[in-house]
Amino acid sequence: MILLGIESSCDETAAAVVRDGREVLSSLVSSQVALHAPYGGVVPEIASRSHLDVIHGLIQEALDKAGVRAGELDAIAVTNRPGLIGSLLVGLSTAKALAFFYCKPLVGVHHVEAHIYSTVIENPQLRYPFVSLVVSGGHTNLYLATSPTEHRILGQTVDDAAGEAFDKVAAILGLPYPGGPSIEKAAKQGDPKKFRFSLPKVKGNPLDFSFSGLKTAALYHVRGQDGRGKPEESLPDLPHLTASFQETAVEHLVRNTLEAARREGASQIGVGGGVACNQRLRERLTAEAAKAGMEAFFPSKALCLDNGAMIAGLGYHLLRAGRSDSLDLDASAR
Ligand code: KG4
Ligand code: ZN
Repeated sequence: MILLGIESSCDETAAAVVRDGREVLSSLVSSQVALHAPYGGVVPEIASRSHLDVIHGLIQEALDKAGVRAGELDAIAVTNRPGLIGSLLVGLSTAKALAFFYCKPLVGVHHVEAHIYSTVIENPQLRYPFVSLVVSGGHTNLYLATSPTEHRILGQTVDDAAGEAFDKVAAILGLPYPGGPSIEKAAKQGDPKKFRFSLPKVKGNPLDFSFSGLKTAALYHVRGQDGRGKPEESLPDLPHLTASFQETAVEHLVRNTLEAARREGASQIGVGGGVACNQRLRERLTAEAAKAGMEAFFPSKALCLDNGAMIAGLGYHLLRAGRSDSLDLDASAR
C-alpha cells in the first residue's frame, strides 16, 4: 500500500510518500522558521498563509520524487489534530480535495501519535510494547505503546513542554528562534557544573514533567530576582548557563523515562519529536538505558522534526485497522 502523508499542524509544511508504513519513497519539508524568527515564535496567521503558498507544489514534488502518480496512491493520510487550527485546515482541505478527486480513502492522523510511531519507521529492532517519550515544542508525554494504533499515557508535563522551555530560555538569553538548536550550540563550549539548576520535582504522578521552574531560574539569573532587571549587553556566562540548563532538562527527561520503563517492565524505549534531535539527550538516554539493561531508539533527525512520513506511516496502520474517515473529517486544535 502506498500512502501520501500530509502534515501542516504548525510551522512546517510536509509531504511524504511511504510504502507499507515503513519504506519512505520521499519525504519533503518546507520550513517556515525564517518567517517566524523575527517574532521569536510561531505567528498563526503567517503559518496558515505560508502553508497555502507551498502545499500544492510540495505534494507534487513528493510524488515526483517517489515516482508515483496521484492516481496510483492507495490512500491519503493527513494530520487533523492537534495543532494551529488555521494551519491544520490547509493540510486537511488539500487532503480532502485529493481524496475526492482521485476517489481515494482519507485517514486523519493524530500528530502526537505519529511522533510515537516515527521511531519505528527506521528502527526495525524496536518492538511493541515499548515506552515512548514524545518531546517537542508542544508536548512532553510518556506512553506505553502497545501497537502502532494503541497506547496508554504514563506521564505528561504539568506546565511547559520541554521544547517550549528551550525556546523560552533561548529568548530570555537573547538566542535566536528556534531555541533548541541555539541552546545546544551555545552549550557546546560550556561546563554544565558551573551553575546549579535544581532538578524539577512534580507532586502527584512521579512520571509527570515540569519545565517552568527551569525557565524562571534562567530568567532570575539574567534579570535579577524580580525578573525585571535589564539583561546585560552580553552574557559572559552564556555557554555555562546554557550547558547547565540543557543538562538539567535532559536529566529530568532521562530519569522519568527510565522510571517509566522500569515500572512497565519494558526493555525498549523510543523517543520522538523535535527535542529528540538534541545530541546530549541522545547520549544520556542511550547510556543510562544501557546501564539499566535497556535500549533507547531515536529517529534520524529529519524524522524527529515534523514530517509527512510519520503521518503516512501511521495512516497505513490506521487503515489496516479499518479506521478510514469520510470527507466530513474535522480539524481539531486539541
Ligand atoms: O516536533 P517539532 O518539530 O514540532 C512540534 O510538534 O512542536 O519540535 C520543535 C521543537 C522546538 O521547540 C525546538 O526548539 C525543539 O523542538 N528542538 C530542540 C532541538 N531541535 C529542535 N530542542 C533541543 N535540542 C535540539 N537540538
Ligand atoms: Zn511535532
